[in-house]
Amino acid sequence: MCGIVGYVGGETSTRAVDVVLEGLSRLEYRGYDSAGVAVGPGMITQTKKAGKLQNLLDDLEANPLPASRNSIGHTRWATHGGPTDENAHPHLSFDGAVTVVHNGIIENFFDLARQLEEQGITRVTQTDTEVVAHHLALRLKETGDLTEALRETVGELEGSFTIVALAGSEPDRVVAARRNSPLVVGLGDGENFVGSDVAAFVGQTKRAIEMGQDEIVTITATTVEIQTFEGETVEREEFTVDWNADAAVKGGFDTFMEKEIHDQPTAVRDTLLGRMSETGSLMLDELRIEESILKRIDKIIVVACGTAAYAGHVAKYAIEHWCRIPVEVELAHEFRYRDPVVSEKTLVVAITQSGETMDTLMAVRHARDQGAKVLAIVNAHGSTIARESDAVLYTHAGPEVAVASTKAFVAQITATYLLGLYLAQLRGNKYSDEVLTYLEELMAMPDKIADVIAREDEVKELARSMKDVTSVLFLGRHVGYPVALEGALKLKELAYIHAEGFAAGELKHGPIALVEEGQPVFFIVPTPRRPLLHAKVLSNVQEVKARGARVLCIAEEGDDAVAEFADHVLRIPETPTLLHPLVSVVPLQIFACALAGEKGLDVDKPRNLAKSVTVE
Ligand code: F6R
Repeated sequence: MCGIVGYVGGETSTRAVDVVLEGLSRLEYRGYDSAGVAVGPGMITQTKKAGKLQNLLDDLEANPLPASRNSIGHTRWATHGGPTDENAHPHLSFDGAVTVVHNGIIENFFDLARQLEEQGITRVTQTDTEVVAHHLALRLKETGDLTEALRETVGELEGSFTIVALAGSEPDRVVAARRNSPLVVGLGDGENFVGSDVAAFVGQTKRAIEMGQDEIVTITATTVEIQTFEGETVEREEFTVDWNADAAVKGGFDTFMEKEIHDQPTAVRDTLLGRMSETGSLMLDELRIEESILKRIDKIIVVACGTAAYAGHVAKYAIEHWCRIPVEVELAHEFRYRDPVVSEKTLVVAITQSGETMDTLMAVRHARDQGAKVLAIVNAHGSTIARESDAVLYTHAGPEVAVASTKAFVAQITATYLLGLYLAQLRGNKYSDEVLTYLEELMAMPDKIADVIAREDEVKELARSMKDVTSVLFLGRHVGYPVALEGALKLKELAYIHAEGFAAGELKHGPIALVEEGQPVFFIVPTPRRPLLHAKVLSNVQEVKARGARVLCIAEEGDDAVAEFADHVLRIPETPTLLHPLVSVVPLQIFACALAGEKGLDVDKPRNLAKSVTVE
C-alpha cells in the first residue's frame, strides 16, 4: 500500500509540484516511510527522502524543483527494500530517460532483474520497482512513445501494480497502468490528475473516472485516453466525488477503523501474494534463518502484546497441528521478566504491527541474549523489531491508522499460517500437495472475509440495540478462544464497556457466576464439521441460556442446531476449522466499532491509548 499522484497542466510553473505535494499530504495515510516527487521537462529532476513527507517538504524548500507542466509523486509503505532515500520512489531508469512510481508488488522482479543484468544494467536499490523503470526505458528507446512503452512493459510484469510514469522527452503527459491496485483519474479544467484514490486530487476537482483492471491511461492537460493492456480503446463513465477532503482520506468512511475493517480482504490477499513457487511449493524469501536451524528447532515461543498476542494464540493451534512442534504463547512483558527456558533450539516468534512496541522489543533482545533465533512478524518495514530480529516475515496490511488493530490482526494470523505451513513443508510434516491444499483454502479467505463484511448492517443493528449494556461476555473453544479474547478487547478499548473473553470450557469453573437474566454472551461457534467441538460449545450455549443469558452466536451458514438456542445468529461462510478466526473476528470488530459510534465515542482514538506503545 502506497500513495501515488500524477499531474499534467497547460503551463510550465511550480503548480505541478505543488499539486502533487498536496495530493501526497492527503495520501500519507497510505504510507509514510518515505516520499518523493519528480518533474520531467528535458532532463528528469527528482527529490526523494526517507521518513515522513515533511522531510521531503523541508528538502524541497531549500532546493526547489524546476517549473514544469507534469509531475509524479509517491508516499511509500515499504514492501521490498527498507525505508531509505535510495529505495524511495520515484525510480529513475539507468539512462535517466524515464521515472516511475509504483504501488503493489512485482512478483517476478528477480527474473526481470536477471534479464537486465544480461544487458549490463545493474540495480542500485533493493526495490522491486526499479526494474520497471529500466525495462520501460528500454521499450521507450524502441517505440519512441511512452504509452506504447508502458503497455509493452506491463505485459512482462506479474503481481499487483499501479505504475505511474513520466519521460523527460514527453513533458506534456503522464502515463499510468493498473492491475489489482487502485487508480483513479481526476478531470480538471486545462489540467488532469491520476491518483491512488480521489484523496489525491479532491482539493482540485470533484470530477473523476475509475480505471478498470488491466488498463492504461495517458493524461495530458486537455485529454484523457484509456486503453486496455491489449491496446483497445476504452470509454469510461465520469463520476462526481461527493466526499469532502477529510472523508476522501478515509475512503468515504466516517472513521479509519471502518475503512481498515473493509481493507481486510486486501490485507490478507497481499500478505499471501508472491509466496508460491512455480512448482507450487511455499517460499518465504525473507526468512533469513538457515534451513538447517529451522529443521532443528524443538520449541517455538510466540511473544507479543494485546491483539498481536491473540494472533499468536491462533498460531499455536495451527503450528502445533501442522508441524508437531510445541508452541508457547507469552505476553512479551511477562516473558522478559521471568526466567524462560530458551535454548539455541528455540525459535522465538515476535508478532507486532508497529515493530516498535517496547515490551516486545525487550523480549526480542532477551531471547537473542539467551541464544534463541528470533523471527519477527511485522507490518511496519524498517521498524526497530524488524531490524533487530534474525529474520522478518512482513505482513502486507498497509498502514494501520486507527489505534485499535483490525486489518493487522488478520494479516498477522495469515503470516503465522504461512510460517506454520512453511515449517511443515521444510520439516516434512506435510506433503507438498497437503501444503498446497491449505494454501488454496487460504487464498479463498479474502472473499470469505468480504462476504462477512457485506453483512455488516445486521451487526450494526445489533450494536444499536445494545448501546446501553454494561457488560458483555465472549466465549469460544479452540481457535474460537483467542477470537473471544479479541472480541472482548475490542469492546473494552472502543466502547469502554466491561467485557471478558473466556475459553468456553472454563465457564463452569467460575465465570458462569456472572451470568444473570439478560446478560449478553457472544459465542464463537466452531464449524459443525467438527462435531465433537461443536457439540461442546452448544452445551455451553445451553448452560448460559438456562440461566437467562441473551445468547448471540457467530456461526457458519447452515449450522441449524445453533438457531434453536440463540437469540441472534450472525452468519459466517463455511471455513476450515483452523482458518475460522479470519472470518469469525470480523463481526466482533464491526460490533465494537458500531457500538462505540452509537455511544458517540472516537473509535479511531480511544481514550488513554496510543497506536504504538514505546514504553515498558
Ligand atoms: C488493540 C491493539 C493493541 C496492540 C498491541 C501491540 O487493538 O491494537 O493491543 O495489538 O499494543 O501492538 P503492536 O502490534 O504494534 O506490537
